[in-house]
Amino acid sequence: MENRTIYAAILGLGTVGTGTWKVLQAQKEEMQHKLGAVIEVKKILVRNTAKAAAKTGLPELVTDDWEEIVKDDSIEIVIELMGGLEPARTYIREALEAGKHVVTANKDLIASDHGHLLDLAKQKGCDLMFEAAVAGAIPVILPLKQSLAANHLTEVMGIINGTTNFILTKMAQENMEFADALALATKLGYAEADPTADIEGLDAARKVAILASIAFNSRVTIEDVKNEGITKITANDIRYAKEMGCCIKLIGMAHMAEKGIEAYVAPMLIPESHPLAAVNDSYNAVFVRGDAVDNAMFLGRGAGELPTASAVVGDVFEVARNIVHGCCGRVSCTCYKQLPVVAMEEINSRYFLRVQVEDKIGVLAMLADVFAQHQVSVEQMIQKRRSGDFAEIVVITARVREGDFRKAVECISEKPNVQKVDSVIRVYGAD
Ligand SMILES: NC(=O)c1ccc[n+]([C@@H]2O[C@H](COP(=O)([O-])OP(=O)(O)OC[C@H]3O[C@@H](n4cnc5c(N)ncnc54)[C@H](OP(=O)(O)O)[C@@H]3O)[C@@H](O)[C@H]2O)c1
Repeated sequence: MENRTIYAAILGLGTVGTGTWKVLQAQKEEMQHKLGAVIEVKKILVRNTAKAAAKTGLPELVTDDWEEIVKDDSIEIVIELMGGLEPARTYIREALEAGKHVVTANKDLIASDHGHLLDLAKQKGCDLMFEAAVAGAIPVILPLKQSLAANHLTEVMGIINGTTNFILTKMAQENMEFADALALATKLGYAEADPTADIEGLDAARKVAILASIAFNSRVTIEDVKNEGITKITANDIRYAKEMGCCIKLIGMAHMAEKGIEAYVAPMLIPESHPLAAVNDSYNAVFVRGDAVDNAMFLGRGAGELPTASAVVGDVFEVARNIVHGCCGRVSCTCYKQLPVVAMEEINSRYFLRVQVEDKIGVLAMLADVFAQHQVSVEQMIQKRRSGDFAEIVVITARVREGDFRKAVECISEKPNVQKVDSVIRVYGAD
């Protein structure tokens, strides 16, 4: 086989950049056999060059000058692992303009701008790959684009944030409250110093935008994806979910409904029998439904130095193979449809509602009345326990329009004999 060297540059040598560097070193002996080429890192771009030089032991590779990379015609692959929107977007655009192939793990950027970047890549005949941007190590982007291309997919739903899955697992298995489980996640390094993007569902929403676009061949951006986090979930909710044979998971949902694409992130009661219910701790999983494949699930590590690098280097190898065989840009943008994204109030779901009411005759009838006035059909209404003059009522609805349900809840919360609406959580149910 021809002895070809393909030069690459890594932008960013933090968690994923360091993992990518290590995995590329560990694969050195195998590359020629796997790819018909050897990938050599020619430059590493960072801000703090001394730190990166010490990490690699190769100061000659390290630079803080992007021009050294973009103007070097021998560099064919740019691996963007800096994160953030800028300067990552500008560097990726300039790399593609210069005819370089790009691999990135940047979910923020891909979720907001993958259409324009993929269009540019196509125009330039370049590869732009981003497997690591969704669910870290788990192969899901290329499987959706290639292995499952023979399907009309109807649903892609997943546990796509490890921090929140760790927190919910601890709450369920060790009866912890949210704040204690978050403190443990921070102590063990599963949560960042500022965990807002994780616990409020924003990180998962970025991944839903990417998954929905690929699954349904229609562009969905982060602005289209409503996110609701797990900060309001209590140990009580989890206990009631267990009594109903369910667990609570933060679900990223991309669903093909009659009116268009439903794309959102929300905590959800999932039946224990669903494969996603068994996905615990910081693991991620993506569950796919299609007309030919039926159901399939992908499970693995959603973050971390080496797991994320596994996905990054997998993409780099794919690009290298394409370069060797002269077929770059084979799998470009797959968004050839223009489907509407359904407004949240139009989405139909089942709901779990927990409410504290005065323990008086007629209160249950009042609740039933409000639901009926708002076209909300109730499956179960159970009085759970009494505390002083108040009783806790749990309601499970049939599939109802979100707009109607929210109005009913608003109306209930304003009734004089209602002390407090404690929880409103979706209940998963396939169409
Ligand atoms: N961490 C994960 O498990 C994970 C999983 C999936 C996807 N991702 C994605 O992977 C990307 C990288 O994440 P990370 O956790 O590795 O980040 P990180 O640890 O914060 O590392 C970022 C690196 O980029 C460098 N950098 C930042 N801005 C730069 C600039 N303007 N010019 C040059 N270098 C710059 C930093 O250099 P200095 O140190 O010199 O400032 C640092 O080496 C992000 O897009 C993230 O969303 C991460």
